[in-house]
Amino acid sequence: MKKRYFELREISPSSEDVFGIPTGTKLDEMFYRVEKIGNRFIKRPLGGIPYLSILNLTGIPDTGKSVLVEQFAITQASRGYRVLFVTVENPAEFLYSALKQKCNALNMDFSKVEGNIIVIDVSQDDELRENPAELIDTMAYAIKEKKTSVCVIDSITGLYEHKEVMARLIVRRFFNFLKKFKQTGILVSQKRSTQAGESAEAAGGLAVAHIVDGTIILDKKLIDNRWDMNLYKLPLGSVLRTIRIDGCRLALHDPETWIFKITELGTIDIISPLKEYISEKEGVTHGGN
Ligand SMILES: Nc1ncnc2c1ncn2[C@@H]1O[C@H](COP(=O)(O)OP(=O)(O)OP(=O)(O)O)[C@@H](O)[C@H]1O
Ligand SMILES: [Mg+2]
Repeated sequence: MKKRYFELREISPSSEDVFGIPTGTKLDEMFYRVEKIGNRFIKRPLGGIPYLSILNLTGIPDTGKSVLVEQFAITQASRGYRVLFVTVENPAEFLYSALKQKCNALNMDFSKVEGNIIVIDVSQDDELRENPAELIDTMAYAIKEKKTSVCVIDSITGLYEHKEVMARLIVRRFFNFLKKFKQTGILVSQKRSTQAGESAEAAGGLAVAHIVDGTIILDKKLIDNRWDMNLYKLPLGSVLRTIRIDGCRLALHDPETWIFKITELGTIDIISPLKEYISEKEGVTHGGN
């Protein structure tokens, strides 16, 4: 009979090394590990999202989820790693030009990137969209054939669009599958407009956040009143974008809300923690140096 119980010492993981898989944004400094030096504990940036983690990236529409995962994909591909990109909303041709433009914007060698990104276009394929088992088979084949180590699904919500009751089951299946195939992955999930912008809740409820290793939340705030104009020192009608790591079970992380912007060239530029941004602005207002 197969043994189903173990002493803890029999379980030591194959590697205890926690290291980062770079995204090419300041997110790489927002995860960290602690090192003991003598009697002191030192925080060290991980340099990326945790290796072998499967993270959820959520936010209301137009908050930069696709821009962020595209930047992650080209950052990894330009370093020579193979990336599996499952595009559910944007057709492959659209993704191609978005990735090419970002490579130009970030001075990356697109010829290297285009050789290292493997695309599965679900946006045009109802069978892959409707049948998770079929999609998982296709992904398994691509991972084995092309030896990918990183995977992006944009968005996993598109796979249970009109059957949200299945969300938990579908997310669990892809999570277990990506773990089994030792991928470091980001699952993009859409938020319903009824769901609070800054919470971890996404379409399908909290199912996604509970299953994955961690959640990153993108949000945007329209500056539409005097109070916000004064607080954020931004003109009326402008948009303040925020990013926050809501939790991660594989690595320590900065719990703060940070502000970021999407540059004209369509890249993510994470700037500073919101509280520093505000105190800096206040410093300026009060005639600080
Ligand atoms: N190439 C680009 N150049 C400039 N701005 C861009 C570019 N691509 C996207 N943006 C801007 O970034 C913002 C966010 O776009 P993105 O597609 O990442 O949103 P999203 O969160 O994925 O939205 P959705 O939920 O609809 O998929 C948009 O306001 C868009 O105008
Ligand atoms: Mg998107």
